[in-house]
Amino acid sequence: MRTDAAHIVVCSGFAHALRLLFGGRVLRGPLAVESYGLAFHRGLLAEAGVRTRPLEVDADGAQIDDLRERAVLLTPAHQFPTGVPLHPRRRAAVVERAGASGGVIVEDDYDGEFRYDRRPVGALQGLDPDRVVYVGSVSKSLSPALRLGWMALPGRLVDAVLAAKGEREAWASALDQLTLADFLRSGAYDRHVRRMRQRYRRRRDRCTAALAERAPHVRPSGVAAGLHMVLRLPDGTEEATVRAAERARIAVDGLAAFRHPDAAGPPVDGLVVGYAAPAEHAFGPALRALLDVLPSRDG
Ligand SMILES: Cc1ncc(COP(=O)(O)O)c(C=O)c1O
Repeated sequence: MRTDAAHIVVCSGFAHALRLLFGGRVLRGPLAVESYGLAFHRGLLAEAGVRTRPLEVDADGAQIDDLRERAVLLTPAHQFPTGVPLHPRRRAAVVERAGASGGVIVEDDYDGEFRYDRRPVGALQGLDPDRVVYVGSVSKSLSPALRLGWMALPGRLVDAVLAAKGEREAWASALDQLTLADFLRSGAYDRHVRRMRQRYRRRRDRCTAALAERAPHVRPSGVAAGLHMVLRLPDGTEEATVRAAERARIAVDGLAAFRHPDAAGPPVDGLVVGYAAPAEHAFGPALRALLDVLPSRDG
């Protein structure tokens, strides 16, 4: 990234950043978004009166060639939830377009700390700090309960975001901010992330090994980074599998839950499986229960 303290505004997580940017009218729609993403975020944008249009997502990430809007929201390092990184050609293309149209890219880097077997992808923000609003969050690295995040902003947007945030710090507690600063300065945050990276990598490896053995027809994807993977299922089996998982008390979502209502491409059957949350003692049983509800080879 390329930024400094004068361009950083602390907020209470990515959701708050969206509220400040769009609810606070710092940025305006229409907004291009990825065809798969969090429905909660689409809801926040709709509440702010922002119309969103989906860009289809393929093996190289969002299809930037279809971008018509001046504002676009992306998860370039690890598309959520499909897990693909945005192809370097598309990274360059989206930054070039934003420069040419005077537009802006909102970069959601929700799990940037967790890369396993690929080189870290630099933030898109580093390519053009004047055109990218970078948003980071501790929700994956520490806990979503903390409600802490930060925006690295183009200089021209800083005052407007501060005005939208208001005079008193009403959202991210100053005590939490100071504690996080101390955690960072002391090196304890880095040690924590390194330790968790190893733990999550082991969990990911256990999942992929168990799948290869017990359900080789179910292909995991997006496994090189993050705290979740997508299991591609045989066509037409997603809904029944999600219901079976619910009955087995396994909290997973189908890909349909993430699909933009206006997405045009053919829907893909799959499960989004987060593997970070179960307590250590519960992980093995949860994984076995998940394997038990997966459809057989012929669905
Ligand atoms: C796609 C995506 N963006 C952002 C976040 C972080 O959101 P927040 O900082 O509001 O907890 C998450 C979840 O942790 C996420 O899945």
